[in-house]
Amino acid sequence: MTARPDVLIAADASARPIRLLAAGAAPASPWAEAHDFTGKTGQLLIVPDAQGHPAEAWFGTGEAFDPLSVRGLAARLPAGDWRLEGVEGEAAEMSAVAWGLGTYLFDRYKARPQRGRARLAVAEGVDLEACRRIVAACALCREMVDTPAADMGPLQIETIAREIAEAHDADLTVTEGEALLEANYPAVHAVGRAAAPHRAPRVIELGWKLDQTDRPLIALVGKGVVFDTGGLDLKPAAGMRNMKKDMGGAAHALALARLILQADLPVRLVVLVAAVENAVSADAFRPGDVLATRQGLTVEVGNTDAEGRLILADVLTRAGEHAPDLTLDFATLTGAARIALGPELPPLYTDDEALAEGLLAAGRAVRDPLWRMPLHAGYRAALEAEIADLRNDPAAWAQAGSVTAALFLQRFAPTTGLWAHLDIFAWNPRARPGWPEGGEAQGIRAAFHHISAFASAH
Ligand code: BES
Ligand code: MN
Ligand code: ZN
Repeated sequence: MTARPDVLIAADASARPIRLLAAGAAPASPWAEAHDFTGKTGQLLIVPDAQGHPAEAWFGTGEAFDPLSVRGLAARLPAGDWRLEGVEGEAAEMSAVAWGLGTYLFDRYKARPQRGRARLAVAEGVDLEACRRIVAACALCREMVDTPAADMGPLQIETIAREIAEAHDADLTVTEGEALLEANYPAVHAVGRAAAPHRAPRVIELGWKLDQTDRPLIALVGKGVVFDTGGLDLKPAAGMRNMKKDMGGAAHALALARLILQADLPVRLVVLVAAVENAVSADAFRPGDVLATRQGLTVEVGNTDAEGRLILADVLTRAGEHAPDLTLDFATLTGAARIALGPELPPLYTDDEALAEGLLAAGRAVRDPLWRMPLHAGYRAALEAEIADLRNDPAAWAQAGSVTAALFLQRFAPTTGLWAHLDIFAWNPRARPGWPEGGEAQGIRAAFHHISAFASAH
């Protein structure tokens, strides 16, 4: 496992101090001057003692200290134990999580020298185990996304779900292959049936504490397209290159679920993952096919590359059968989402004002930002089809591809309780210290923060 929560250790006054210095606030020192250290955001200066050992570090905060910037710091400091001087309370907790996130390294296929042998002694009063769990959840998510499709197929996703279920006494039900038809998951079956038999499509359902009906029921739904070729509407090479990450929604849902179970939040939990490979074969679903869905609506396939919304339709319907109080779905659903907001801001969709504000506020609080986008009813007409109830390729006039995809999901979302959809990118395209290029967890920390509050308010 690439998760290294052991980089966080208990408070220790003997750890070397990291002094946070605002722009222009660096004490006059020839050493600092020689290194042009001014306290500019992200600047780092190692200050040696008389023997030449690193004694302390100065870290530039610019205008104000951003706990998330610690993510870059962890990867740049020399080995040893460090503490952040003068950082307390929530900022200390967030810094600790950021430190942990900054040490993630995907080394499944080759040994990669880990610079971040530095450990952080957390501030007094910080819940060390809670920080470690959050770091480990994000690492699980990133590792699943980073793992190539050949080694992260439907079975591997099922296995990870099974491990989570077994560790926490949850129930796991997997419906696979032809059994999907019998169990009424027709869209999941249609999208996934072209895959090789050992990579058969499946619906993975985890249930935890479902009999404790005094607790609020949370449903987490994830898009688990283990590889998205586009299907018969094949993606061009550049568009297909990164599509191992198309199971990012499933990775997010499962990592968040593990976090909720480990933290033992006072909720009931249902996790629903549709794990399929959008492959090409003689038996692939075709443009022009009309698919049945679990809900009963028919969908004309205008484009086999709009597969995510098809499989999510069935599992969202299934989620609704549990009458959840809150449903969150995660999906690498559209390229349009990143055109609208870029790779760092996942679009958040919900019609509930309080849920929107709650999730956005949680994202701000834990530095895991989301950005609200509209479920604009005027674009619903773009989903109308001539020979079926819906089409999966919105009419071109509506243009807003992430919005119309969310409107499609809305037709299948649970109507009991609240529902929000996150159109995540699940990928960091720009390598920086602490932010390696590759899989990224987006919204897990925000959602966890909000669900914790939701549970205690219930
Ligand atoms: N998995 C893709 C969306 C995607 C592409 C996410 C690139 C992140 C980066 C999804 O299945 C897809 O192909 N969507 C199409 C839908 C269109 C055919 C209506 C898209 O967004 O182009
Ligand atoms: Mn696609
Ligand atoms: Zn896809």
